[in-house]
Amino acid sequence: MRRSVILGCGSYLPKTILTNDELAKRVDTTDEWISKRTGIKSRHIAAADEKTSDLALAASREALAEAGLDATDIDVIVVATTTPDNTFPATAAKVQALLGMTKGFAFDVQAVCSGFVYALAIADNFIRLGQANKALVIGAETFSRLLDWNDRGTCVLFGDGAGAVVLGAIEGKGDNTDRGILSTHLHSDGRHYDLLAADGGPGSTGTTGHVRMEGQEVFRHAVQNLADVVDEALAANNLKPEQIDWLVPHQANQRIIEGTAKKLHMSPDRVVVTIADHANTSAASIPLALAAASKDGRLKQGQLVLLDAMGGGFTWGAAMVRW
Ligand code: UT7
Repeated sequence: MRRSVILGCGSYLPKTILTNDELAKRVDTTDEWISKRTGIKSRHIAAADEKTSDLALAASREALAEAGLDATDIDVIVVATTTPDNTFPATAAKVQALLGMTKGFAFDVQAVCSGFVYALAIADNFIRLGQANKALVIGAETFSRLLDWNDRGTCVLFGDGAGAVVLGAIEGKGDNTDRGILSTHLHSDGRHYDLLAADGGPGSTGTTGHVRMEGQEVFRHAVQNLADVVDEALAANNLKPEQIDWLVPHQANQRIIEGTAKKLHMSPDRVVVTIADHANTSAASIPLALAAASKDGRLKQGQLVLLDAMGGGFTWGAAMVRW
């Protein structure tokens, strides 16, 4: 059975760091409120001349280098983003050109904060079907550009960054001892479209709009949906929570992450948490966390890694991966 194994990870964070204390000079908030309610201490903000594709390119180069591959080895690029350089074409096409890759195909995926899990699932399916042998999967965001900097309920939550992974095909036995992506689980429920959304778009207002969120409602759904999808991923692979080595969750709120970890009976030292320094980077948060834990040696070959995410739409999903 064909499986997709992660061959390399990369990340990029813009140089400028905006701390909670600095933000408190701009809006009516405090470091104490943000830290206590979310776990966020600071976030990175892209420079005026940095586009989502620039962030994606830097993360991709690092992932390709770690995989020991050139861009010419890649068959498909999938970029998960809510903040594309342009309304069209896809940011993935820009990344393809910047990497000097002239074969294969490249496209974007829009599932907001669940975008990376969606992109990973899509790329994994191309590989399993034999339509691609190597894939570059990127989560990249300049989310700061979608924020209303006068809305303290949202502007304190997000940051910019990019993460990337390179997937390659391997043969497995078809059971949960295989290396690579064992399963992916995607969900959406459009009834909650308005609870976390931009208040504009090219097809409605002709503007990009700003992020609007019913925080408490999103929180409630996130805890439930993530608990459900994590159960689904465990059951699909005939695994028990104690067999999972690492939880690498989307980084929206420390309390949501702790809720999922508690459900899995996982101690905090088995959860990769970057939210204090990165804030919520939407589709970039999971690949940024993967790159951090891969670089510092926490993720070891053969370990079981569970990814989960929830975002606007609502969308949510999980992926079970043997590193
Ligand atoms: O990535 C996609 C998924 N996103 C999420 O999962 C986010 C889910 N939601 C959350 O993480 C939380 O709901 C928030 C962190 C957004 C908000 O935390 P909360 O504990 O739900 O706070 P709240 O919205 O209920 O607001 C509590 C109080 C309010 O004041 P009153 O009405 O009690 O007087 C807010 O006006 O906190 C106030 N508040 C703030 N105060 C200081 C809201 N934002 C701020 C702020 N600084 N930045």
